[in-house]
Amino acid sequence: MRKVSAIYPGSFDPPTNGHLDLIDRGSKIFDQLVVALLRNPDKAPLFTLPERLRMLESMTEGFKNVRVETFDGLTVDYAAKVNASAILRGIRAISDYEYELQMALMNRKLHPELETVFMMPAEQYSYLSSRLVREIAQLGGSVKDLVPEMVEQRLKEKLDPAIKLQHARGSKSRKRG
Ligand code: PNS
Repeated sequence: MRKVSAIYPGSFDPPTNGHLDLIDRGSKIFDQLVVALLRNPDKAPLFTLPERLRMLESMTEGFKNVRVETFDGLTVDYAAKVNASAILRGIRAISDYEYELQMALMNRKLHPELETVFMMPAEQYSYLSSRLVREIAQLGGSVKDLVPEMVEQRLKEKLDPAIKLQHARGSKSRKRG
C-alpha cells in the first residue's frame, strides 16, 4: 500500500504545546511526519537552531513515525527532497487563514502535486503562539501549560540572569576540574 508522508514546517521558536498537539494529530493521519525546522539566517531567533532542534527531538521522541530535520530554501523543494506529498499546517483562528491561504496557493503554484493539509489544534491552544510565549517569558510571566515543562525550563535558563550565571560558573568549574 502507498505510504503518505508529510512535512510540518515552521520556525518553532520555541516549540509550544500547540505545535505538539498538531504533531500528535498529524502523526495519526500520515504514515510519516517530518517536523521541518527552518534554518533562517535573516531572523534573530531567541533559541539557536541546535537548541530548537533538541527541544523538538525531545518532545517527539515518543512518536514512532515522526522525525525532526532542519531545512533551508523553499519548503516545496524540501518536501520533494523527502518525498512528502503534503505540507501540514495549523489554523488556529480566522486571522491565520489569509496568510496560510496565500502560502498554500503559492506553494501549489510552485509545486502543483503537493497538497497543504490544515488541521485545527485543540481549543485551549487556539490563542497560543511562539511569539506570545517569548513575550510572556521575557516579561517574567508564567508559560506553564503553554509549552512542555522542558521548554519552560529552557526559557527560564535563557532569560533568567541568575540561572545563566549559575550555569556559566558550573561549566567554568567543570572545565577547571
Ligand atoms: O513558523 P512559521 O513562521 O509559521 O513558518 C513559516 C514557514 C517556515 C512555513 C514559511 O516561512 C516557509 O515555508 N519558509 C520557507 C521559504 C519558502 O518556501 N517560502 C515561500 C512560501 S510560499
